Amino acid sequence: MKSNVGELDFEQPLKIPELLEPTIESDGSKHFSLTMKPGTSEFLPGKTTDTWGVNGSYLGPTIRVSRGDEVSFDVENKLGEISTLHWHGMMLPPVMDGGPHQMIEANDTWSPYWEIDQPAATTWYHPHLHGKTAQHVYQGIAGMFIIDDEDSEKLPSNYGVDDIPLIVQDKLFTSDGQFTMNEDSAYGTLGDEILVNGTYDPYLEVTASQVRFRLLNGSNARAYNFGFTDGRSFQVVGNDAGLLNEPVTLERIMLSPGERAEIVVQFEPGDETILRSYSRGAGIANGNFDILKINAASELTESTPISGQLSTVEPIEVPEDATLREFTLTLKNEINDKLMDMQRIDEVVPAGAKEIWVIHNYGSEHNFHIHDAAFRVLDVDGNEPEEYERGRKDTVYVPHGATVRLAVEFGNHTDLNYPLMYHCHLLKHEDEGMMGQFLLVEPGTDSEVPMTLPESD
Ligand code: C2O
Ligand code: CU
Repeated sequence: MKSNVGELDFEQPLKIPELLEPTIESDGSKHFSLTMKPGTSEFLPGKTTDTWGVNGSYLGPTIRVSRGDEVSFDVENKLGEISTLHWHGMMLPPVMDGGPHQMIEANDTWSPYWEIDQPAATTWYHPHLHGKTAQHVYQGIAGMFIIDDEDSEKLPSNYGVDDIPLIVQDKLFTSDGQFTMNEDSAYGTLGDEILVNGTYDPYLEVTASQVRFRLLNGSNARAYNFGFTDGRSFQVVGNDAGLLNEPVTLERIMLSPGERAEIVVQFEPGDETILRSYSRGAGIANGNFDILKINAASELTESTPISGQLSTVEPIEVPEDATLREFTLTLKNEINDKLMDMQRIDEVVPAGAKEIWVIHNYGSEHNFHIHDAAFRVLDVDGNEPEEYERGRKDTVYVPHGATVRLAVEFGNHTDLNYPLMYHCHLLKHEDEGMMGQFLLVEPGTDSEVPMTLPESD
């Protein structure tokens, strides 16, 4: 079993990705500039790693906006090769989604814009070039994208102080300190070293009695089963796509690749603990890993404990006669016996629809992510999900042999030319074709829509 427990000295202060300042346009919209480019980083002491980053050499800045904001971006591609930048978890017009069809050629700039219209959530961005997503994310293109609304102010929100992003990624290094991938294995690369926000061997000093951590599993394949070494519990306050209605107290939370959770942890002055991932046996959550040492200062800013209602958003409910679609994940890493085809439309969904999607996993371990949608887990093998999994999500772990039923709410924007994706977020599986495409169309026109895209695309 892989483990790094006991191997770290926790000597590097945790890096906090900078908050990207927008320029405010004359119409009040917020404009952000992102440049994807190569660079070098030092992770392992004394060794230099070739990396990619956004506005820097590894990972990207945090973007933070509020519901109702109009946002626009310039995404400049200086990587020297084609890529894309996808807004994972964002509800937006399909052409702005940054999926495999919105390619950005080397030296080109892509300029998407949309209105933020979804509840408070911790979303993220990463490339989505078909067949290359694993490599582009692994090299370092990823960042956090935080959405606030009135509900999110009930929680610690002082970025970098009591509201801390934790982008957790595992890596394999060569002896001279370069990243290396192992795409021959069943799940893709499972690294034996951990980076948090691009920091190896990290510690964090906290100065508040309550700290909100935004956990993002930004790894290619590994799942983390997070908990603290002193056995302390924490409050889960949010799932991928929104806050929970009420906090749920837990000692462990597992996140598969692409999933997020917001947790609030209480500290007493002088506390010391380690955030660790606890092995769940074979497969993608195998091995114990120290993630981050946390030291509480000798004096802490007191904050009012979290209690009562968090999200005021109604849980996603589907109508009685909701369309039900079934997706079978197979041993060959296909969905419904098909591999991804950029020209083929697999599903046509009325914009704004609420549907039941049923995912059967007859393959190995997988998860399932849907673009431009949020869902609630209805049941797993007929059992209601745990309390902490009942919020809004966009990515769900689907164990081997399990059937997961989802109540899905789709975005409102139609587009006949730009399909949206659903896929396994183990990036090797996704790259190898474990992905399908759907169009969002004007309700009532579903049957007239061609199931292939025009050749020119
Ligand atoms: Cu995080 Cu289709 O992606
Ligand atoms: Cu998979």
